[in-house]
Amino acid sequence: MNASAPLVLGIESSCDETGIGIVRGSELLANAVSSSMDEHVRFGGVIPEIASRAHLEAMIPTLEKALADANVTLDDVDAIAVTSGPGLAGALMVGVAAAKALAFATNKPLYAINHLVAHVGVGVLDGGDLPKNLGALLVSGGHTEILKIDNLTRDVTLLGATIDDAAGEAYDKVARLLGLGYPGGPAIDRAAKDGNPKAIRFPRGLSVPKFMGTAEEPGPHRYDFSFSGLKTAVSRAVEHFDKRGEEVPVADVAASFQEAVVDVITKKAVLACQEQGLTTLLLGGGVAANSRLRELLAARCQSAGIELRIPPFSLCTDNGAMVAALGAQVVMAGIQPSGINFGTDTGQPVTEVSLGA
Ligand code: KG4
Ligand code: ZN
Repeated sequence: MNASAPLVLGIESSCDETGIGIVRGSELLANAVSSSMDEHVRFGGVIPEIASRAHLEAMIPTLEKALADANVTLDDVDAIAVTSGPGLAGALMVGVAAAKALAFATNKPLYAINHLVAHVGVGVLDGGDLPKNLGALLVSGGHTEILKIDNLTRDVTLLGATIDDAAGEAYDKVARLLGLGYPGGPAIDRAAKDGNPKAIRFPRGLSVPKFMGTAEEPGPHRYDFSFSGLKTAVSRAVEHFDKRGEEVPVADVAASFQEAVVDVITKKAVLACQEQGLTTLLLGGGVAANSRLRELLAARCQSAGIELRIPPFSLCTDNGAMVAALGAQVVMAGIQPSGINFGTDTGQPVTEVSLGA
């Protein structure tokens, strides 16, 4: 262990996970997470007010657990990092208020951290520095992005993003249509195993030349995603069976839907890597658990000569360790703390890795 590396406590509350992580430099010491997912089940999606209330209730117990797991006290901590955005407004506010209170009470420097970049920063916990020419593919219930990382703490570019639903959100909505429950991702993943992915040809969003353009003359959405048309197509297919009084072939619909999502995500991510000179791709977000995504992405990265890195699943979903990990990198890069006057930013761009004072 590098005893001189900063001990950083990270707080995450942008969606439905209350996460407190503790790292020393690039070493993971604790990753305590409390999820309110069970409370959203009957609504089929995250309800912001419920998530905010759950953060409030979980914050102190999760903090205590993280400190105990890491065997450190608040006094030992050198800096506090917190997700300031992007995310749900009320949910972010709970974490940021907690972080400000802690920083104020303990007189420790506070860093406001970008949630999306933190998904990439978690990669340092796997052995220190991140590789050069790094790209990231983030897929979860709240985001679907392709990033280019020239410098983790200072230079991150958004190459592409969803223009409507996030990939995980599409899984959740389609699972609901198919009566598979929430969260939809794991349910569809399971159902799809018994289905034929070629049974129904569902649309691949933003894949036609009008949106893609060419490498020389990129179209308006070359690396972007859209899943709302796909969701509508699945809904029409289900209606079609219902109208005819036929049983909906759930496994085939699930497999065909999944193939459409995974095909377009992996194709665009690999294309972006090839065209932008990215030689390593890091995968993050809850949908990283998807078996077909992992399989197809691994195959396509291998054919393209791209190294694929997938952190352990507990670090792919939202957690505080990723915020602490990026926070520690920001501290070690000598970047100034954010002070306590910053606000939450539901749309914080990836260009703002940490907020200035
Ligand atoms: O990262 P995460 O825990 O929370 C945020 O949304 O930020 O991701 C949760 C999302 C949900 O939409 C869930 O349906 C999806 O990840 N998910 C999956 C799988 N496991 C979780 N999607 C597809 N296949 C899976 N196996
Ligand atoms: Zn996330």
